[in-house]
Amino acid sequence: FKFSFFFNHLLIIYSIFSRMNIALIGSGGREHALCQKIYESKLTKKIICIPGNAGTSKIAQNININFLDFNKLLKELKNHKIDFVIVGPEEPLVKGIVDFLKKNKIKVFGPNKYAAKLEGSKAFMKFICKKYKIPTAKFKVCRNVKNVKEFLKKNKLPIVVKADGLAAGKGVAICKSKSEVLKISKDIFLGKFKTSKKLVLEEYLTGEEVSYFLIIDQKKFKFFGSAQDHKRVGENEKGLNTGGMGAYSPAPIINKTLESKIINKIVKPTLLALKDAGKPYTGFLYVGLMIVKNEPYLIEYNIRMGDPECQVIIPRLGSDLVKIFVNAINNRLNKTQIIWRKTKCMTIVLCSKGYPGKYQKDKIIGNLKIIKPQKDIFMFHAGTKFINENLVSNGGRVINITSIGNNFYYIRKKIIKVIKKINWKSGFYRKDIGWRVIKKK
Ligand code: AMP
Ligand code: GLY
Repeated sequence: FKFSFFFNHLLIIYSIFSRMNIALIGSGGREHALCQKIYESKLTKKIICIPGNAGTSKIAQNININFLDFNKLLKELKNHKIDFVIVGPEEPLVKGIVDFLKKNKIKVFGPNKYAAKLEGSKAFMKFICKKYKIPTAKFKVCRNVKNVKEFLKKNKLPIVVKADGLAAGKGVAICKSKSEVLKISKDIFLGKFKTSKKLVLEEYLTGEEVSYFLIIDQKKFKFFGSAQDHKRVGENEKGLNTGGMGAYSPAPIINKTLESKIINKIVKPTLLALKDAGKPYTGFLYVGLMIVKNEPYLIEYNIRMGDPECQVIIPRLGSDLVKIFVNAINNRLNKTQIIWRKTKCMTIVLCSKGYPGKYQKDKIIGNLKIIKPQKDIFMFHAGTKFINENLVSNGGRVINITSIGNNFYYIRKKIIKVIKKINWKSGFYRKDIGWRVIKKK
C-alpha cells in the first residue's frame, strides 16, 4: 500500500512538471471535441487553437492565422512556447506539415507527407491496393479520355469517378450514364481540381459503409473506435454529398470476424507498404469501408480523424488523450492502455440553410445560452465565432449536438429535443441520423 501511495504521488509530481503547451490545428467540430479532451488531460498546461471556433475559445486561446503558411505558423508556435502540435484536418498533413515541424524540432502527432498520400492521392492508394492485394473496387487510373473509354467498354454502370487529389469532399461522382462519366472526366483533365489532372474510375459497390479508426506508431497500431456517418444532405440518404450530417459510435456492423478481416486483409498490408517504402508513420488511420456480403472493401483512406465521427468517438474514450499522443510519438503504443466506455454516442449536425451549396454567414444563434449544461449532452462547435459577445454562424456545418446513453433511439430523441429548443431559424438538420440502428420503435 505504502509503495503505491508513494508511486502515485511521484506520478502526480511528474505530471505537473511535464505539463505541456499544446497547439491544435483546425476549426471544426472534430477540433472542438479533441480540444475538450486535451483540456481535460493532466498533461496539458495551455492550449492554443489555430484558428479554432467559438467553442474552443472558451477552453483555449484561438489564434487566427493561416496554418498553411508554415513559416508564419512556426513563428507563432515559438512565440507561445509550444511543446507539442496536434493536427486535425487533412490539408496541412498532405502538404507536409509534419515533415516541416519535425525538421524545425517541434514535436508533432500526425503522418509524414509520404504516408499522407494515402488520403491525398486516390491513385497512390489504389497503387498500394494493387501491389499488396488489398480488397477494393475494381479500378483504372486515367490520364486521358482514351483511358476512360477503355474502362467504359469493359465495365458496367454505375461507375464512380474520383479526382486524384484532395477536393474537400467534392471530388467523387457516382455516374449512371457513360456521357456523364465522360463529361466529368473531361472537366478533371482540364484542371477542375487544381491539385491533380489524373483521375480514378472504379466499379460501384453496393453494401453498408462503415468507418474504422486506428491510432498508429512505428511499432504498433491500436483500435480507435468505429462509427457510421451520414454523408447525404437529405433524409433517406437523398441529395448532395456533404462532409457528414451526423454520426454514431460504435458501428454495430463491426464484429470480431469482420474486424480480423479488416486488420489482416487491409490494415496490415497497408502498413507494410509504408514500411517497405521506408516511411512508416505515426497518426490516425481512418479506414473507409464498404461491407459487401460480410467482406470489407477499402473505399478510401484518411490519415486523420473523421468529422463528425470524432465527435462520437472521443466522448467514449476513457483514457487520457494527450498521454496517448505522447506515447504514440515515442513509439510506446504497445505499452499504452486505451479504454473505451460501453456507452453509445450520437451527434446531429445543425447546418446553415443552403449547405452544402451557398449559405449565409454571421447569422446570430441566440438560444444556445438557454441550453443548460448536462452530463449526457454536449455541444461541439464547428462553424461558429463570436462577434462582440454574440454567437454567430461562420460555416456550413455549425454545431454538433451530441449525446451519450444506452439506446440510440433515446439518445436521438434527447438531441432533437435540444435542437428544437435552440430553434435556430437559419439552420436545418436531419432527423433520421442513425436509421440503420434505430429500425422502428
Ligand atoms: P470517397 O471520397 O472515396 O470516400 O467517396 C465519397 C463517397 O462516395 C463514399 O463515402 C461513398 O459513399 C461513395 N463511394 C465512393 N466510392 C464508391 C464505390 N466504389 N462504390 C460505391 N460508393 C462509393
Ligand atoms: N465524415 C467523413 C470525413 O471526415 O471524411
